[in-house]
Amino acid sequence: MTMRPGHSGSLAILALAVSSALFVSATTAGADEVQPFRLCADPTNLPFSSDNPAQPGFYVEIGQALARALGQPIVYDWYKSYFGKRTVRVTLLGKQCDAMIGLPRSDDFMGPSVIFSSTFARQGYALVTAKDRAVNGIDDLRGKRVAVQFASTPQNLLAARDEIRKVTVLSPEEGMKALEEGTADVAFIWGPVAGWLNKTAYQDRYRIQLTEGEGLTWDAAIGFARTSTELRDRVDAVLPQLAPVIADLAAKYGLPGGQPVRFGAAHAALSGVTTGNGTAVAQVANVVATETKGDALPKNAEAVNSGKEIFNGTCAHCHGPDAVQSEKKIDLRLLRHRYGDDMHTTYLKTVHEGRPAKGMPSWKEVFTDDQLESVYAFLMTVQVESND
Ligand code: HEC
Repeated sequence: MTMRPGHSGSLAILALAVSSALFVSATTAGADEVQPFRLCADPTNLPFSSDNPAQPGFYVEIGQALARALGQPIVYDWYKSYFGKRTVRVTLLGKQCDAMIGLPRSDDFMGPSVIFSSTFARQGYALVTAKDRAVNGIDDLRGKRVAVQFASTPQNLLAARDEIRKVTVLSPEEGMKALEEGTADVAFIWGPVAGWLNKTAYQDRYRIQLTEGEGLTWDAAIGFARTSTELRDRVDAVLPQLAPVIADLAAKYGLPGGQPVRFGAAHAALSGVTTGNGTAVAQVANVVATETKGDALPKNAEAVNSGKEIFNGTCAHCHGPDAVQSEKKIDLRLLRHRYGDDMHTTYLKTVHEGRPAKGMPSWKEVFTDDQLESVYAFLMTVQVESND
């Protein structure tokens, strides 16, 4: 091609360069210029993701299968946090990665900044019972002791049913423990974690049934930045052929499947929240907040929920899951006992400034004050007088 000065010539060259770049990235396989498929994931969030290559987790293995199908090598951007809007902002929208697996497929979840693949799995609350016992609906729970997580959709769902005895737990782990210790007959808890524990800690002793209903499940998809429509379309094109692989992986990680138990009408009337694909995990907290009735639960259930999520994603590594910690010095359930009226001030000062010499980092660059207050709200729900 001869170079001609002038506008149209350089535009033509530019157009050619752009179209061949698209062609390369779309077909690649083996070419030098193959772009890696950059996946953002939490290094410590099994059954979903882990940076341990021997046990990568459901989402990471889906990412690996996707990258193979796309003909791109995979690289990881590990980001230690439960997924949440903040993580998505920093990693995906911050262009540290191309895709995040397992976001709730809903325009309410950071739309229009985030776009989604089609749904590849359904996540939700599950009913855990002894193997020889099945639950087919809410009426089968009558007269039973049912473990429900604090401020969760199941807790709200059962709140009005006096004939069902609720045993409040703070985590799926505690729900499983309640079953094991015989303090509950059924656990109505977060399914993926229940399934994972059943598989890894309980030798598959329990029957786990996925449920269905508002605020109980959401559709998991792969999220991309708004500008990545081309990648999204390529992913959507290969997802159907990966369905059998994804089903095998779900079984491998113990995720509950099968025909879900429907919890429907009564709950819908109670909540007034729209159904359908849109019920996002981000909304679950709102659902919880709007459904919270009377004094049964603190009004700040939403803050408690998100604070607990931050806590378990970030602080639990040192302070223990759900703040359960046997070493007194770092047992945050003792804040009230230790500081009384000064506990809020001491809390804020410590999380802002940290105590670097003692190994407590400063968090003021990491979390907003609202987030730190929500962690505090969570901690207030677990205060005890003594940890022995
Ligand atoms: C890398 C480990 C680590 C992480 C992560 C961590 N902390 Fe700490 N934290 C510590 C240690 C160690 C201490 C005890 C310092 C001391 O001995 O005075 C502490 C102390 C505290 C205290 C004061 C406790 C008291 O009784 O005086 C608070 C409050 C606290 N941490 C909150 C948090 C919160 C909230 C997070 C998460 C956002 C967090 N920490 C994450 C290690 C950690």
